[in-house]
Amino acid sequence: MLVSAKEMLTKAKQGKYAVGQFNINNLEWTKAILLTAEELKSPVILGVSEGAGKYMCGFKTVTNMVKAMVEELNITVPVALHLDHGSYEGAKKCIEAGFSSIMFDGSHYPIEENIEKTKELVDTCNRLGLSLEAEVGAIGGEEDGVIGGGEVADPKECKMIADLGVTMLAAGIGNIHGKYPENWAGLSFDTLDAIQQLTGDMPLVLHGGTGIPADMIKKAISLGVSKINVNTECQLSFAAATRKYIEAGKDLQGKGFDPRKLLADGTEAIKETVKEKMELFGSVGKA
Ligand code: 13P
Repeated sequence: MLVSAKEMLTKAKQGKYAVGQFNINNLEWTKAILLTAEELKSPVILGVSEGAGKYMCGFKTVTNMVKAMVEELNITVPVALHLDHGSYEGAKKCIEAGFSSIMFDGSHYPIEENIEKTKELVDTCNRLGLSLEAEVGAIGGEEDGVIGGGEVADPKECKMIADLGVTMLAAGIGNIHGKYPENWAGLSFDTLDAIQQLTGDMPLVLHGGTGIPADMIKKAISLGVSKINVNTECQLSFAAATRKYIEAGKDLQGKGFDPRKLLADGTEAIKETVKEKMELFGSVGKA
């Protein structure tokens, strides 16, 4: 069964740790993340971008795959299936397809329009018992064609969106998707602090978890971040392990070309990355 992210994030905020959102791309990704969460007794959020949803043949396919996998693998930890950076139309499709959590990213709209659209989705999600993430201040970098400028959110606008009754709030604090450039200025903790002062108990979300140094992650958690999104880092570890397998010529030995063998090292590498992150975020044993 899939659950809304509300309870796991309320607990995380109170307990001063964060739950990881790990983005999925296919069966191997999903399996690796679910098995690691179960092994470590950690709650987990599976993130699906609109591009990844399309790649996996639509949101219904994704919901059915994830639900069936949770059942067949006997996963007992709380699992939320969450739309990542959803458009207004994408959000509606995922609600219909049975996702348990939705992100509506209205950060590129003028604040009035972001408020109006978020408000409508708050009502729908509340009625259906789904969690809803909203965003203020675009996250920098590029993810599946969605390009953000790396803004720093206005804490007052964050308060306006939080007051609509969303479950969790993503705010730009200088974070970006993908690898961080050499000259990255780091996270703006003053902004994060100001946002938390105004939004109180609201679980805050840190996007662009890849490559943020451990001390910054810990500080962000101490300032109210309860959900951290990681995508690129799993892709990089999967790619590196797969490259190593092929460069060692293992696909040419015996039945090494069998996809179940070819993708095995990459899948194990995803598990390792997810484990490291869950340990860093403090969610191990919190299921
Ligand atoms: P990274 O790809 O930088 O880890 O960011 C993930 C993310 O924020 C998904 O929304």
